[in-house]
Amino acid sequence: MTAVFYRGVTATYPLAVRAEGMYIYDQENKQYLDMSGGAAVSCVGHQHPQVVAALCDQIQTMSFAHTAFFSNEPQELLADKITGKFSEDGAKIYFTSGGSEANETAFKLAWQYWRTKDQPTKKKIISRHHSYHGNTYGALSISGNLPRRRVMGDILIDWPRIDPCYAYRNQRPGESAEDYGLRAANMLEDMILQEGADTIAAFIAEPVVGASLGVVSAAPGYFRRIREICDAHDILLISDEIMCGTGRTGTFFAHEQENFLPDIVTLAKGIAGGYQPLAATLTRAHIHETFVTSGKGFDHGHTYVGHASACAAGLAVLNVIDQENLLDNVQKQGDYLQAALEDAFGDHPYVGDIRGRGLFRGIEIVADKQTKAPFPDDLKITKRLKQATMKQGLICYPGGGSYQDNLGSHILLAPPFITQPDHIDQLIEKLRAMFDEVLDV
Ligand SMILES: Cc1ncc(COP(=O)(O)O)c(C=O)c1O
Repeated sequence: MTAVFYRGVTATYPLAVRAEGMYIYDQENKQYLDMSGGAAVSCVGHQHPQVVAALCDQIQTMSFAHTAFFSNEPQELLADKITGKFSEDGAKIYFTSGGSEANETAFKLAWQYWRTKDQPTKKKIISRHHSYHGNTYGALSISGNLPRRRVMGDILIDWPRIDPCYAYRNQRPGESAEDYGLRAANMLEDMILQEGADTIAAFIAEPVVGASLGVVSAAPGYFRRIREICDAHDILLISDEIMCGTGRTGTFFAHEQENFLPDIVTLAKGIAGGYQPLAATLTRAHIHETFVTSGKGFDHGHTYVGHASACAAGLAVLNVIDQENLLDNVQKQGDYLQAALEDAFGDHPYVGDIRGRGLFRGIEIVADKQTKAPFPDDLKITKRLKQATMKQGLICYPGGGSYQDNLGSHILLAPPFITQPDHIDQLIEKLRAMFDEVLDV
C-alpha cells in the first residue's frame, strides 16, 4: 500500500534508489541507461561529484533566505553567468523553481510591460498548435497540445494559435526549405492582422520543439522572419528554451543557432541538471528598464524565487559544462548519435524521420513512410513504447500527438552531455529490441 498520489493513478513504478553518471538503479539493482535525462533534465549526468560538493557546501552554509528580504551569492553569481552568455548586455534574470513558473513569469512580464506602457489592451499571447509550455493554468492555456488541454474541458483560456514550423509534415513538394520557413512565419502576421496588434502582448515558441512534436527545428529563416513580424507589430517574442536551452542543442541558448534575439527567454530542466528544482526567466534590458523608469515595478513572486541552494546547484552545473567543455561533446556525440540512428533505423519500415540538433534527437514513428500516416490510436504505440523502454533498462521519452491530436508517435532522446559512443551503441541495441517488440505489427 502507498499513500502517494502517483502521476499515473493506476500505475506502479520501480523505486529508484541510486544513480551514477549515465545510469539509474532501482531497488532490485536493475540498471537503467538514462538517454533522456528523464525529460531533458540530467545534463551533466547523475551524482557529479563537483555539483554534489557545491550543493552540500551551500546547504551547510545557508540553505535558504527569503528573497523578499535578501539576495544571496549563488543567485548573483548564476545570474551573472547566464547573462554573460546572452548576446546583448544588461539582461536580467528572475529565478523560479520549474518551467511552468518560468513561463508564467514570462507572461506576467509581458502583460505588466504593456500595462506599464499604457497599452492594457495588449493581452493575448499567440502560441503554436502542438506546443507545450507547462501545466499551470496560464501555461497550459497558452499551450496548443490538444490531449493535455482536453482533460481541462472548457476551463482554459483559448487564445490564437498558428501552425508550428514542421517541415517533415508541412513543407510542400517543390517548396524550398527557406520558402517554407517564410510561409510558416507569415502565418503569425496573418494572425496578428486578424486579431489586431493592439490586442496581442506576445508570441511564444520553442526554437526546437521538444516533447510535443519530437525534436523539431524550424526551417532556415523562420525565426528571423518571426522577429521582424514581432518588431513590426510591437509584440514581445518569448523563446521557450526550457527543454532545448542550456546547451542541449550544442549552443548555450537554442536561439543562437537561429540568429534572432528574443525579448524573453525561459530556461529550466538542464539549468540545474536535476540536482535542485530551478528555472529562469531572462529578460532583455529594455523590458527591465521599463519597470524601473515607470516607478511601478514588476509585481510577482513565489516563496522559492532565487532559492540559494537551487541557484548553487545551477551554478555548479553550468561550471561543469564550461570546465569540461561539454558543449563540444554535445556537438560531437550529437553527430555520432544522428549517424548511428540513421544507420540502424534509416531503412526501418516504420521510422519516418530522424532529426534534431546536438544531444537532442527525435525519431518519428509512422505506419506508412510514403504517406506519413500514423498508426491507429487503438494500437497504443506510444504507450507500448514507454513500457518497452523500461523493460529494456532504458530511459527515453516516447510521446504522442506529432500528427494531430493524440495521433502520431515519436521518441525523444536527450542524453546527458557526458555521453560517450559506447552509451549510444547500447542505446541502439535497446531501441532495436524495443522496435522488434512493439513495431511488429
Ligand atoms: C518546452 C517546455 N516548456 C515548459 C515546460 C514545463 O516545465 P515544468 O514541467 O518544469 O513545469 C516543459 C516541460 O516539459 C517544456 O518541455
